Amino acid sequence: MKILIVGAGYVGVVSAVCFASKGHQVVCYDTNEEKISLINDGIAPINEPHLDELLRLTRENGNLSATTNIKIGIQDADMSIISVGTPLSFGEIDLSYIRNASKELAKYIKFASEFHVVCVKSTVVPGTTADVVAPILEQYSGRIIGESMGLAMNPEFLAEGTAVTDLLEPDRVIIGSSDPATEKLMRELYKPFEPVEILTTTLNCAEMTKYTANALLATLISFSNEIANLSADMPDVDVIDVFRGVHLDRRLSPKVGQDRITPGILSFLHPGTGYGGSCFPKDTKALLAFGNSKYHDMSILRSVIETNNAQPNVTIELIKQKLDKISGKTVGILGLSFKPNTDDIRETPAKKIIEWLLENDARVIAHDPVAIQNMKRLISDRGLEYTEKLEHLVASVDLIVLLTSWGDYRELHNLIGESNLPVIDGRRFLDPSKFVNYSGIGKN
Ligand code: NAD
Ligand code: UGA
Repeated sequence: MKILIVGAGYVGVVSAVCFASKGHQVVCYDTNEEKISLINDGIAPINEPHLDELLRLTRENGNLSATTNIKIGIQDADMSIISVGTPLSFGEIDLSYIRNASKELAKYIKFASEFHVVCVKSTVVPGTTADVVAPILEQYSGRIIGESMGLAMNPEFLAEGTAVTDLLEPDRVIIGSSDPATEKLMRELYKPFEPVEILTTTLNCAEMTKYTANALLATLISFSNEIANLSADMPDVDVIDVFRGVHLDRRLSPKVGQDRITPGILSFLHPGTGYGGSCFPKDTKALLAFGNSKYHDMSILRSVIETNNAQPNVTIELIKQKLDKISGKTVGILGLSFKPNTDDIRETPAKKIIEWLLENDARVIAHDPVAIQNMKRLISDRGLEYTEKLEHLVASVDLIVLLTSWGDYRELHNLIGESNLPVIDGRRFLDPSKFVNYSGIGKN
């Protein structure tokens, strides 16, 4: 199949490379010239395991190219996939990129195949594909949906750090489509991925499924944090032991003979400093605003967001307990990215905690295996210091605060030894018994 991808961001570029690696002819279109020339040079514009090799391979075998000219990209294409951003603006989803992309596509559809499918892959609130994208496409293309044009909604479930494998071996493919011909073409898109579980549904339902999936995971995190904060206020309760007991429910970790299956969902029933990243924070807020616009209170979702917004303060409280005064003290921050194995710092809880420390005149030295450059752009002129050497940080600080569970920190106890240096574990990642002066979320 010939495919045009509109928006070569995280989802767009990984989708493009994966579809091209499965034999489709893919053109990436983006307005950002830098990203396009990187892709054409065989260099991935984002930091994601396996992406560089696969991109180079698909460039070499001629299945992938990139352009800033949509007219060239859409030439004879069977399908266009919209993967532009859907940020939050004034508390609700901003569909301006979706509207612009739809309009540009519509104007050039005349150069595409006789029957052309437009597929929305961006995360959009229910009704967007049918009520926003469809009218724009029909108005500016002169084509009619269901006749010479089809419309599909195919949400993306990849997680950063595992994006390539998530796409190459999807756990699910959800396809909402406007008509049978569109569904047929969407199935063809995923044919090289077989065996794969495909769920076909309506456009609105596909959109709703994506938000529900993210909202459920965010809910588990905030629930775990609420229980953690209560546990910390009681003597002899460690929330890790509490959740160990909860995880043992055979409905959460089924027994197979003497062994147990440990489903990935359990990793979301674990306390921490709160969720961040480019999706959970914006998607939960967009769903809340969408629900409110339909006169639904969405009280659970509102609490999930409130708990998450407040969660970095729990780490701040632990810092206050450990240091009698903040001013003049040196604090070492371990981990800047919003989760391990990525350099993405969007909505990272580390930002709030570092800013609070700097505002209170602490000296802050931060370590991260890959996210330092990005953090320098986010917090530029605030006196935040960085080090790439953990030993240097350990030797220079009055307190250590772990905020991202990078594997690099697993052996932290070896650097600290028998020293009384206080360590706050904001992710409950370390073994408390290996430290003289340990405190963590959910532990009195
Ligand atoms: P991103 O910001 O990384 O990339 C968006 C790209 O679209 C940018 O390169 C931008 O230049 C380009 N763009 C914007 N308007 C354009 C236009 N009119 N024509 C051509 N290019 C245009 O965004 P992302 O992280 O890839 O997310 C895209 C969508 O996928 C969002 O809705 C997001 O919620 C969803 N999503 C993201 C992830 C993730 O992990 N990042 C996972 C699943 C779903
Ligand atoms: C998440 C989902 O996992 C993907 O399925 C989805 O496609 C994607 O959002 C999206 O829509 O963009 P991602 O944001 O890459 O993927 O990362 P996750 O691994 O889900 O982690 C999100 C946040 O939750 C991180 O800040 C992480 O530290 C935090 N988290 C995770 C916790 O605080 N506690 C946990 O127990 C688990």
